[in-house]
Amino acid sequence: MTAASAPAQRGVLHRWGAVLPLTPATPLISLGEGDTPLVRSARIEALTGLDELWFKLEMCNPTGSFKDRGMVVAVAKAVEAGARAIMCASTGNTSASAAAYAARSGLESFVLVPGGNVAAGKLAQAIAFGTRLIEVDGNFDEALQAARELTSRHPVALVNSVNPHRIEGQKTAAYEVCEALGDAPDVLAIPVGNAGNITAYWKGFGECAEVGRSSTHPRMFGFQAAGAAPIVLGVPVEHPQTVASAIRIGKPASWAGATAARDESGGLIEAVTDDEILEAYRLLAGKEGIFCEPASAASVAGLLKLSREGRLRGGRAVAVITGNGLKDPDTAVSQYKPDVTRAPATVAGVERALGW
Ligand code: F0G
Repeated sequence: MTAASAPAQRGVLHRWGAVLPLTPATPLISLGEGDTPLVRSARIEALTGLDELWFKLEMCNPTGSFKDRGMVVAVAKAVEAGARAIMCASTGNTSASAAAYAARSGLESFVLVPGGNVAAGKLAQAIAFGTRLIEVDGNFDEALQAARELTSRHPVALVNSVNPHRIEGQKTAAYEVCEALGDAPDVLAIPVGNAGNITAYWKGFGECAEVGRSSTHPRMFGFQAAGAAPIVLGVPVEHPQTVASAIRIGKPASWAGATAARDESGGLIEAVTDDEILEAYRLLAGKEGIFCEPASAASVAGLLKLSREGRLRGGRAVAVITGNGLKDPDTAVSQYKPDVTRAPATVAGVERALGW
């Protein structure tokens, strides 16, 4: 291939290296993460009272979630530091991403997941990438506590979002939003689980305003599932429950980061019920062509709830669509009665079946 026809280098480390903690010794690994589409809502916008609603399609990252943006930085820095293995606790997406970047970099990976509560596609990914999968008899919060202690005792790098390199990588989504819109939006709507992502976006928007990439910053609107809403309640939830298994978290590690984002931005963190999440999940697929996972629909469910309560008046909002619907086929199947008709494999047979 000649130099002229060589494709441009892609990925978060190439694109955003100048605002990341890289050194000449950091390996510039990539699976092509970042640079995800920002698409305008076709139909839900009209239901919200917003002037503009945009979706940041983080589900388009290589392993199907926003986690890749931070994981590529965390894994590159682990390699730079001489690590041979990485570990995380996860509700599924972090483990899929960690396992992928470990495979890519020749590292061993260990993931702790809450037994029986991880969507099938995410487990399939972790297994395919060759991770050592440990299903713990407990919830995410307990798994994270174990992972923190294990990595302090053994020569294994922790790649949960308590690792600051994860936050650095994830903040690049805010840079992309400002670049695509020419400024920060008025509102950034985002699901909140362990609260790393809302913390990362707020850091990114702060930096963009500081260096003149934006003239303002958005109000940060975080949404938790009603059965797993510790930040809304102000106390940890011992037994979190929600259909949105990705955000089934009762004691978020970045709690303080989330409340800072909320308070400094004049935003809010509120709860949406599983019914509201699933309504938004079906609307996104049926009215926008966006098949996301239930946790991702929490951002849109939250905007629809605020709109119903008369609390959204105009402005431009971006909703972060954090993960791909293919990861959780069981929820998808349970939400729909498939409209399937059997027919012989002939023109006449299909016409008859369709009543044409
Ligand atoms: N959306 C999806 C699809 C997620 O997987 C997560 C978190 C969130 C939203 C919430 O982001 O934790 O930064 O507030 N998933 C983690 C995991 C916990 O293990 O995959 P957060």
